Amino acid sequence: MIDPFGRHITYLRVSVTDRCDFRCVYCMSEDMTFLPKRDVLSLEELDRLCSVFIRLGVKKLRLTGGEPLVRKNVMSLFRGLSRHLDSGQLEELTVTTNGSQLHRFADELRDCGVRRVNVSIDTLDAEKFHRITRWGRLEQVMRGLDAAAAAGLEIKLNVVALRGVNDHELGDMLQWAGDRSWDMTIIEVMPMGDIGGEMRIDQYLPVSMVRAELEKRFTLTDIDYKTGGPARYVRVEETGRRLGFITPLTHNFCESCNRVRLTCTGTLYMCLGQEDAADLRTPLRRSESDEAVMEAIDEAIARKPKGHDFVIDRRRRGPSVSRHMSHTGG
Ligand code: 5AD
Ligand code: SF4
Repeated sequence: MIDPFGRHITYLRVSVTDRCDFRCVYCMSEDMTFLPKRDVLSLEELDRLCSVFIRLGVKKLRLTGGEPLVRKNVMSLFRGLSRHLDSGQLEELTVTTNGSQLHRFADELRDCGVRRVNVSIDTLDAEKFHRITRWGRLEQVMRGLDAAAAAGLEIKLNVVALRGVNDHELGDMLQWAGDRSWDMTIIEVMPMGDIGGEMRIDQYLPVSMVRAELEKRFTLTDIDYKTGGPARYVRVEETGRRLGFITPLTHNFCESCNRVRLTCTGTLYMCLGQEDAADLRTPLRRSESDEAVMEAIDEAIARKPKGHDFVIDRRRRGPSVSRHMSHTGG
């Protein structure tokens, strides 16, 4: 799959559910309404669709959500997809998780060929963690992290930078992660989805400021490490680990974009920051043959836009993109 700008699409992120057992303040409102079950692809349908993408050239697959590990029987999907790792068609199967269920699934994930997990954690303070996630318990995530490490999974922490919330803690978190040989990525708040009440401009903390602050304490060396994703990486000389910065608002990272995103309803988004999407559920359910789906995917890739245009400002209080991150999968 090659898009009109010559970018090879080799990375698919799949949101396997829009549901989550947390209600992070920057992500969801507390009374989120979730999709009716009939709109959501079955695990068999998700497997079929992912397999078509793999046949079309996807090499890396990341399962996200919502929280992927709260979907009932989700391990059967991992197990099924691992056959593409065995055949060598798929190079990597990964997961982005809030860590709440990792203590249950770490060993099995490893057994299904998963080697790396991204775990979202915005603070090491239990009370603050509860305030940010509303429903989460830090202790449970810590147990999950321990289980993942014990299972031999490589761990990267995803930390959303929140002004006035965790800004003074990021250095300690970086040291803590480094002490455990874990990489870390710091993410700017993105204007996605109505979150009720809270204003994103108040949470917004540019990672350029975070970096300047961290440089008072750490030596950060730019490195060329690229994943095709939006993060810029530095090496933290004091810990020897990588630190990524995701700056969708202050920086354009679209030139090297190699990815598309599939929601649990079978909607394909060609860009995280644009509304344009392709319905793959209809062609998928219409016939047992994969011809129609393949055609729909080809058509969609041919419309992949050059880039996005996120804005957070004081005049526009609403989100730039109306769907939530938990729908598209970060
Ligand atoms: N802005 C920035 N990051 C977000 N995440 C969820 N919603 C947002 C948002 N609006 C983060 C999660 C997770 C990652 C996949 O995306 O915390 O770390
Ligand atoms: Fe759940 Fe992740 Fe959204 Fe938090 S950010 S509510 S963990 S999907």
